[in-house]
Amino acid sequence: MTKQRYTVTAALPYANGPLHLGHVAGVYLPADIFVRFLRMKGHDVAFICGSDEHGAAITLRAKKEGITPQEIVDKYNKIIGDSFREFNISFDIYHRTSSELHHQTAQDFFLKLHDNGQFTEDTSEQYYDEEFQQFLADRYITGECPKCHNPGAYGDQCEKCGSDLSPTELINPKSTLSGKEPILKTTSHWYLPMDRHEGWLHDWIQQGTLDGKQQHDPKSWRNQVIGQCMSWIDGGLHPRAMTRDLDWGVKVPLPDSDGKVLYVWLDAPIGYISATKQWALDNNKNWEDYWLKKENGEESKLVHFIGKDNIVFHAIIFPIILKDHGDFILPDNVPAYEFLNLEGDKFSTSRNWAVWLHEYLERYPEKIDELKFTLTSIAPESKDAEFTWKEFQARVNNELADVLGNFINRALVLTQKYYNGIVPAAGELTETDRQVLNELALAPERIAKLIYAYKLRDAQTEVMNIARLGNKYLADMEPWKLVKTDEKRVETVMHIALQVTAFLGQVLEPFLPASAAKIRHFLGESPVTWDELATYRLAAGQQTNSPEILFQKIEDTLVEKEVEILNQSKSQSVAAAASSPEPQKPSIAFDDFSKLDIRLGTILEAVKVPKADKLLQLTVDTGIDKRTIVSGIAEHYAPEDVIGKTVAVLLNLEPRKIRGVESQGMILMAEDAEGKLSFMLPEKGFGAGGEIR
Ligand code: 2FM
Ligand code: ZN
Repeated sequence: MTKQRYTVTAALPYANGPLHLGHVAGVYLPADIFVRFLRMKGHDVAFICGSDEHGAAITLRAKKEGITPQEIVDKYNKIIGDSFREFNISFDIYHRTSSELHHQTAQDFFLKLHDNGQFTEDTSEQYYDEEFQQFLADRYITGECPKCHNPGAYGDQCEKCGSDLSPTELINPKSTLSGKEPILKTTSHWYLPMDRHEGWLHDWIQQGTLDGKQQHDPKSWRNQVIGQCMSWIDGGLHPRAMTRDLDWGVKVPLPDSDGKVLYVWLDAPIGYISATKQWALDNNKNWEDYWLKKENGEESKLVHFIGKDNIVFHAIIFPIILKDHGDFILPDNVPAYEFLNLEGDKFSTSRNWAVWLHEYLERYPEKIDELKFTLTSIAPESKDAEFTWKEFQARVNNELADVLGNFINRALVLTQKYYNGIVPAAGELTETDRQVLNELALAPERIAKLIYAYKLRDAQTEVMNIARLGNKYLADMEPWKLVKTDEKRVETVMHIALQVTAFLGQVLEPFLPASAAKIRHFLGESPVTWDELATYRLAAGQQTNSPEILFQKIEDTLVEKEVEILNQSKSQSVAAAASSPEPQKPSIAFDDFSKLDIRLGTILEAVKVPKADKLLQLTVDTGIDKRTIVSGIAEHYAPEDVIGKTVAVLLNLEPRKIRGVESQGMILMAEDAEGKLSFMLPEKGFGAGGEIR
């Protein structure tokens, strides 16, 4: 086997909050499986990660928690780093972009590109918060998305429709610092003229070629990654500012640039390089081997594991920067993951709709491989996926406990019982025995192909199929019955079952490292390389140990408790939202108000609108007429409960067709923080026709 050098990075998490299972499933766990496999294959790997400690994500969080940015990054760097360690993610280094070495590396990079003329300097008008005396880049500004009209879009991105935005595109922009409308003020920045790079990026991403030379196999890149990049490139790339007016970040290393720092998306990916430098210093390695171009097949393969919202930064912007520098390799692949949802809803930090990794580890420190297994089984490789506690229970109980755990336990317990734990020699093999051994010889190559193609879900399924094969073999052979009639044959059956056990103790290593180590310990075996697997055999006569149960079943009570925790945090965040009500809307003139014709009306009839869960069709006596109004109250009131009620009606709202019915006005409702609706009923004695002013 030829040894290949690999530089594998996992997206640097912002040190502004803990990690949730969505992050784990879609970046860190797949990266870890891939790297553990590469190491088993004997490749030379640097597995790089660290905290992303700059940018508005950090300073805004600091403001929210009322502490300094430094305190924020120290706090979350520790929480995140500890969780990775406890979850057994095998980074070679977990570094920080606030380190001196990183600042130096990022500044050198900037200077080299600057001196080579690869930036343009440009003066433009940008939003500025007069009260806070600060320019408002990226997340410092919110407003309405011009594409999907989400009212909470940020200056750099709309999280609802995924569009990449610039602050001046937002409708009704507001400063996130003061909540006020910003003014425009002139400032000057350095831009990366991305438009100059469209040509080579196009060929490199679509064909995998650079300067006419094949760099990577484009078929090995995920369709979504190529698709997203091509739509960017085809839409036309624009110059993008590489600096910001902020006081937190890597300072721009040029004269007269006080108050300016590098754009976080310029400094963060360079963090992969500075982290590699630190690791090399600590481990007597040469960082350049992992990043610079080389001849004679010595060059490292650079692989970035990321979430789909990071595609443009890793497949377009960072490659431009690496290429501009001149000496660096470009990524061989950018395996990007789709999103993981949780119990029917998106993960949401603000609504606390999340399973936090550090909290999971506190509650279930003994169930690490159980979580790894479930997350890999549902990994969002090609489309969004969903984690539910019921699914977690089913995966653990039906697959890990009933198949894998059961098989290993049976094989080892029977070996203790029949042979005092000593591996029996095989006698003559039957066709079935041969098929089982043959499968062990063929599986490693098949699984390796899947892992090299970043199909880790399928790879884990293949591994579990080996456990299934072993389980079925024992169930079919029934050594516990056979032992009464043919002891000799049982020796062969147990020999084969133990070979499968030993194989699992090795092949599971990338996926379930703790369980693999336990199985090897039961057998008294040491790790082998992936290439040894096909011919690896447990020796007859070897003493094995009594096993322990590998996977405890998950009780219903755990599932119920976890769902309850989620529901509680949801209602707490609703209550918190209620105690911090929406700020007042901008003032309107009295004339605007007096345009509204609001009167009391009495509901005469009410029926459900067919095939619309939320809608009631009402006939309302308004004092001037009887009209039809469609109202979204069906989830709160039954038709019979509303007949006879006197309610507030906005009469002069333009008629609208709702589900084919023309609605001539709107019933005004009160809504609480949990979305519960109530009529605004007048005191007794007021009837249809009364005006509301
Ligand atoms: O999206 C994020 O969480 C970023 N902090 C990822 C950065 S990846 C790399 F470029 F550092
Ligand atoms: Zn949008």
